[in-house]
Amino acid sequence: MKVLTVIGARPQFVKSAIVSAAFAVRSDVKETVVDTGQHYDPNMSSVFFNDMAAGPPKYSLNVGSGSHAQQTAKMLAALEPVFEDEAPDVLLVYGDTNSTLAGALCAAKLHVPIAHVEAGLRSFNRRMPEEVNRVMVDHLSDMLFAPTTVAVHNLEHEGLSPEKVHLVGDVMYDASLRFRDEAARRSDVLEKLELAPGGYILATVHRAENTGTDARLREIFAALERTTETLPVVLPLHPRTRAVVEQWEVNALDHTAIHVLEPVGYLDMVQLEANSAAVVTDSGGVQKEAYFYGVPCVTLREETEWTELVDSGWNRLVTPDDADAIVSVIAAAVGTVGTPSELYGDGHASEAIVNLLVRKA
Ligand code: UD1
Ligand code: UDP
Repeated sequence: MKVLTVIGARPQFVKSAIVSAAFAVRSDVKETVVDTGQHYDPNMSSVFFNDMAAGPPKYSLNVGSGSHAQQTAKMLAALEPVFEDEAPDVLLVYGDTNSTLAGALCAAKLHVPIAHVEAGLRSFNRRMPEEVNRVMVDHLSDMLFAPTTVAVHNLEHEGLSPEKVHLVGDVMYDASLRFRDEAARRSDVLEKLELAPGGYILATVHRAENTGTDARLREIFAALERTTETLPVVLPLHPRTRAVVEQWEVNALDHTAIHVLEPVGYLDMVQLEANSAAVVTDSGGVQKEAYFYGVPCVTLREETEWTELVDSGWNRLVTPDDADAIVSVIAAAVGTVGTPSELYGDGHASEAIVNLLVRKA
């Protein structure tokens, strides 16, 4: 069986690396990986292939950045000949980025069956570009690999056939189990930054709703700056966010107590997450990783797709409109523990996906 995997953004390099490893041990499946080039800086792309020992993609489409329409259209045009050359039995896509949508749309037009990993996630906020992408891709897909029971319910609610839906768990959980010890062995990020385990806060910010207008990002920076009065704050900064801050009349990166870094590789990130006192983020993946490593999380958003994390007390939401509110939620989160439970499967989501693909596609 021939599987064509289309990825292109940072979280997809993480998710697909672990599933590619499950493909690699099978002689009855051949996986071909296409990287759209949505993310292209080495620390947003190739570092993940190195850190996670995934082979380089066969195709690099080098699409790069642009408006949603430009980026998605370029991907579609570049993907079509790849589908024609490879003639896959099934397309595999991950998550909710423009690369996910382009891959699924191209496959649908060429009558190639689609399998979607991380199906059924919903924020119920159609202003998020990701929400539009995931709804579209779920409704185009033939196999829906849901990570959680909440995701399964969302798909049922939208009338998608239960026969297409498979509750498999979360491939990021598989990755966390596989790489936690390796990160502790191979990463020296704590030593380099002179950070003590449990002695700092790790933050990431990149979501369009927090970076699209200055107001929110300024409140977030003010809150992180004030948090440094109690604990150091480490901020590996997404290039999108850096570009916004660097345009401010006073560049907050030039004179801040926040420890601002370039994006870090996967092993350094795991090590930073696992040893932090709390994680403050608007990332989908980082919210879950905080839970995997038993660290309290503050999510800088109005809502989350990972509602089970909030319900079980690991995560709390704060709309980042007001620095005071953010500071107090962070202070309240530090030192808390949630109730451990098996929210994201048994650590074998990747194998379950590969088995189902072989059996059903
Ligand atoms: C994308 C996804 C988002 C995901 C995030 C993961 C969509 C609509 N959004 O958002 O769901 O959470 O990836 O990180 O697909 N840039 C660089 N170098 C890079 C990549 C990006 O400088 O290697 C800068 C460019 O200025 C670019 C901006 O970041 O315009 C945004 O990149 P883009 O891929 O469009 O969206 P993300 O915000 O990364
Ligand atoms: N990540 C990383 N280095 C960083 C920031 C994030 O390795 O500097 C990893 C993180 O551990 C997780 C994934 O990237 O596995 C999440 O990606 P991101 O936050 O960009 O996207 P989202 O999950 O919000 O779509």
